[in-house]
Amino acid sequence: MDYTSRVDNKTNDIDDIVKAARIFIDEDDLDVSSVVKKTFEREGFSDILTATNGDSALKIILESISERKPFDLIILDLMLPGSITGQDIYRQLSSTVDIPIIIITALPDKETQLDALQYLDVEDYFVKPLEMDIFILKAERAITRRIFSSKINASNKKSQKLFLNILQVMAKVLEAKDPYTRFHSENVAKYARQIARKCGYSGERLEMIQIAGILHDFGKIGITEMVLNKTGSLTDPEYLAIQKHPLIASTILEPIEELSEVIFDIKHHHERFDGRGYPGKLAGEDIPLGARILCAADSFDAMTSNRSYHKSMSIEDAREEMIRCSGTQFDPEVVKAFLDVQDEEQEKKDRLKLLKEKVNEKNK
Ligand SMILES: [Fe+2]
Repeated sequence: MDYTSRVDNKTNDIDDIVKAARIFIDEDDLDVSSVVKKTFEREGFSDILTATNGDSALKIILESISERKPFDLIILDLMLPGSITGQDIYRQLSSTVDIPIIIITALPDKETQLDALQYLDVEDYFVKPLEMDIFILKAERAITRRIFSSKINASNKKSQKLFLNILQVMAKVLEAKDPYTRFHSENVAKYARQIARKCGYSGERLEMIQIAGILHDFGKIGITEMVLNKTGSLTDPEYLAIQKHPLIASTILEPIEELSEVIFDIKHHHERFDGRGYPGKLAGEDIPLGARILCAADSFDAMTSNRSYHKSMSIEDAREEMIRCSGTQFDPEVVKAFLDVQDEEQEKKDRLKLLKEKVNEKNK
């Protein structure tokens, strides 16, 4: 059961909702661990798990995430016995999940404290002996923030999801016309969102660029399947017909008020940075940033997928091609953001893989 259903099944009383939070304490000093646990229990919390070393703590945390019963707060001692330290755990978790982490430590090391608060985004940092009244107050605040931001997101997401589902059905209708573009809209949406986040998009703007990714080629609904699926080279009239798809999309989608923010992104996703694209022959920053992002996401997925007119390229070759066309077809800043995102994603995957191997090795 995930957090949302847990809350929905409970009474709406705010205090009850907060007190239903799951808390995890990883502390090797049993006296400290016991005092912290008892204080939480006195405050009305009951779902509290504890561990005394980094290895078992990480196993419990990863299991709670994979079982969709994540903790709402993690209390972590930096100095733990075992091969995995508290520092290892928060480094891993802060880059993968959104659970508030409060660090407790016997070392009043200002540099580590600053590192934890500033770069690793931990919720708070306490030096032992703990001032329990302040500690509990801050812990409850962190839990409340975590629970209610999740609740608000969940309710907003319900209506957004319905809208998104309808748009995805529309995109599927298009993909049925051209079997080679199966999953293309989802891939472009995923890449566009990653690039946009790197370029500073957040919140609703980020959701909208993802929707634009799903719909970017919707105008192909107005192009005949014979042209879309043609294996040989296109005649001039066929090429001109294909080039109309961004305008067809913007005409069809314009009445949908919710899409007004991204209509121009969709309309201009085939512009080139050097001004030799279509439909407006816009150049440089005259092209909306969203359109420059869609262009890179679209091209990368086209290069790395099989199409009626070409076989897929390897990821490495496609990255080389993006670099080669940076400044001509693509915005160099957007290419850099995309390559950086890919590197970071790969690093994250490698780190998680290593960590899981480490935990598995320890548990043998
Ligand atoms: Fe397109």
